[in-house]
Amino acid sequence: MGAGDGGYVLYRARTESTTFAIALDASPDALSDGAWRAKRARLENAAFLVEGVERLPRELADLADEVTIHFPWGSLLRGVITADPAVLCPIGRLLRPGAELRVLVSATARDGHADFSPDWLSEIAVDYAACGLELKATRQATLSDVAASRSAWAKRLGAPRPVVFARYSRDSSRRGLMSEGTSLARQGIQSTLKRPS
Ligand SMILES: C[S@@+](CC[C@H](N)C(=O)[O-])C[C@H]1O[C@@H](n2cnc3c(N)ncnc32)[C@H](O)[C@@H]1O
Repeated sequence: MGAGDGGYVLYRARTESTTFAIALDASPDALSDGAWRAKRARLENAAFLVEGVERLPRELADLADEVTIHFPWGSLLRGVITADPAVLCPIGRLLRPGAELRVLVSATARDGHADFSPDWLSEIAVDYAACGLELKATRQATLSDVAASRSAWAKRLGAPRPVVFARYSRDSSRRGLMSEGTSLARQGIQSTLKRPS
C-alpha cells in the first residue's frame, strides 16, 4: 500500500517465484516506473494498481497473505496515525484471516505529527481492532527494518529519523468485513505482461 515506485514489490516478486505481489498507490507517477521495470524483467508475478486504499476493489477481499505499508504520506499516513476506518477497514478486508499487516512509519513533530510513537499505536489499538486488525507488536524500527523495506523514500529522507514499526494480524473471528469496495474490472487491474505496450 502506498508502494511509490514499487521497488519492494519488484524485489519480492523477483526473489519469491511463488509469491504474487501487488503494488498499490494512489498516484501513477512513480508506480508506472515500477510497472515498466516489471514488464522489462518479464515478471509474471507482479501487478500494479493505481488506486487509493480507501477504494480497494471488493474482488481483493480475503486475498492477501501480507500487506505492507512503508513510509506513507498524505491520506495513507493520516489514516495510519489517526486509525481512520476509511483507510484501515479496506486493509482489514483485504487480508486473509490470520494474515499480517506490517507498517513502517516516520512522522515527527517537525512534520506536524506530534508524539507519534509505539505507545501511541498501542493507545489506538482498539480502533485498529474495530477494522479486524489486532496489534501484535510495535517498537522503534531498527536500521535493518528500514533497509529491508528497500524504501526509496527512506533513502531520500537522509539523516536517521525515528521510525516506528508495527505488526498486526487480521482477526480470524471477524467475518463479512468486505461489504464495500469497487469493482476490480472497473479499475482495470492488469498483470504486468498484459499491459499495453
Ligand atoms: C513517501 S511515499 C513512499 C513510497 C514507498 N512505500 C517507499 O517507501 O519508497 C508515500 C506514498 O503513499 C502514497 N499514498 C498516499 N496516500 C495514499 C492512499 N490513500 N492510498 C494509496 N496510496 C497513497 C503516495 O502516492 C506515495 O507514493
